[in-house]
Amino acid sequence: MSFDMFSDLIRNKLVQKFTGQTKIEFQNIIPDDTLIARNIQELSTIGLYLHIPFCNQICPYCPYNKELYSDDAAQRYAQAVIKEVEKYAGLMAHKKVSSFYIGGGTPTTMLGKGLEDMINAIYKHFNMACTIHIESHPNHLSNQNLDTLKTLGVNYLSIGIEALQDRHLKVLERPYKSADANNIVERAAGKNFECLNIDYIFDLPGQTFAEVEQATREMIKLGINQAATYPLFHFPYTRFGQDVTKKRNAHVTMFRRRKFLKVVEDVFYGSGFERSSVWAFTQKGTEKYCSVTVPSYLGLGASGGSYLRDIFYVNTFKVAEYIKAIENGGFPIALSIGLTEKVQMAAWLYWRIYETKFRKGDFHQRFDRSFDMEYGTFMKLLERIGFLDNGHDLIRLTDKGAYWIHAFEDFFSIDYINKLWGTSKYNPWPNHVIL
Ligand SMILES: C[S@@+](CC[C@H](N)C(=O)[O-])C[C@H]1O[C@@H](n2cnc3c(N)ncnc32)[C@H](O)[C@@H]1O
Ligand code: SF4
Repeated sequence: MSFDMFSDLIRNKLVQKFTGQTKIEFQNIIPDDTLIARNIQELSTIGLYLHIPFCNQICPYCPYNKELYSDDAAQRYAQAVIKEVEKYAGLMAHKKVSSFYIGGGTPTTMLGKGLEDMINAIYKHFNMACTIHIESHPNHLSNQNLDTLKTLGVNYLSIGIEALQDRHLKVLERPYKSADANNIVERAAGKNFECLNIDYIFDLPGQTFAEVEQATREMIKLGINQAATYPLFHFPYTRFGQDVTKKRNAHVTMFRRRKFLKVVEDVFYGSGFERSSVWAFTQKGTEKYCSVTVPSYLGLGASGGSYLRDIFYVNTFKVAEYIKAIENGGFPIALSIGLTEKVQMAAWLYWRIYETKFRKGDFHQRFDRSFDMEYGTFMKLLERIGFLDNGHDLIRLTDKGAYWIHAFEDFFSIDYINKLWGTSKYNPWPNHVIL
């Protein structure tokens, strides 16, 4: 039996244990309007996600849904998103939107090119009780654009810095130098956003622990409030992912990443930051935000995903198909899945572990079931091996646990992303996708 077959076997056994299902299957079914409306109305609040699928360049490591920016596509895309907002206006009637995240791709490619119109439509048609969180590319952050973002209501700005040393920026094919990166972050910090986040990638080819330590100290000096520090993941459908040699040493990679993360942890903990997710560190006293951990959300735009109680669905990935579906008066939904309560509970646990601390009471409130009855034995085992502190109500992962439990979860998530995003990237309307 090959290593891949063995991994699949283990994965299937564990999925069965945690979800009670032999397979997780997305189908090309558009959920009924009335079902979407009912599920939205049953939520007390909802999060909103808007995907901007354009970039000025395609980076060789990036798994996200994006294509090269063009004025024409951006203009038509903005009009389509506004129509999608109008379609949901009735279904979202009076529902309070408690968080709004604009991600990509690169949202700032559309600054002055339709971004403002989409945001205005959203604030006009939805009951927005929140400000804006947005991802940005360093090269788009002139002083003028930073001011425009503030005027638009952005209070959380994330910058994809990726690296702070020239040789690593070069490997990643990023179109700026470390001196520019420093300057941009420092200027953005001077604009007093409520939270300034940078995305930083470690475990790059040939990178040393000393370089990562130096970069971490540097970013803190520049005035950030949060850093999302990911190791370089290899997705098979990206240019870097096609380098098969990386696959062979998966276990060596896991231990090396842990050592890198420990370097980052030590610097942040010594500088007034605390862990806010497996990969993120936030300055104490700053409110963190993470798009994927919001309990229920509506996703707009190409590849936007919506998680509404017992349904999850995702829009077509291809921009032209998304626009066509909306212009034809339909929903651009490509794939959906009905979620049993056991699957919803497993998803809840997955994301709470990602956040590294959670309350059992929140589980009880969400599912009207005892957390200890469902997962007590499993938590006791993890406590015994030093992966978490299992309090009366609060469960807090230790640093060791945060890393290793998540490495275990990655065994599923990276494979699932490859299957769902990899298929959707090449086929805008798949018949089905089995995870
Ligand atoms: C949507 S992009 C950020 C905004 C903007 N597009 C940019 O590149 O500056 C999201 C972030 O995900 C991270 N990312 C992308 N591909 C990754 C990979 N293969 N491994 C680890 N992190 C990755 C990068 O830090 C990237 O900045
Ligand atoms: S890393 Fe950012 S700029 Fe590069 S392809 Fe991905 S989304 Fe686009």
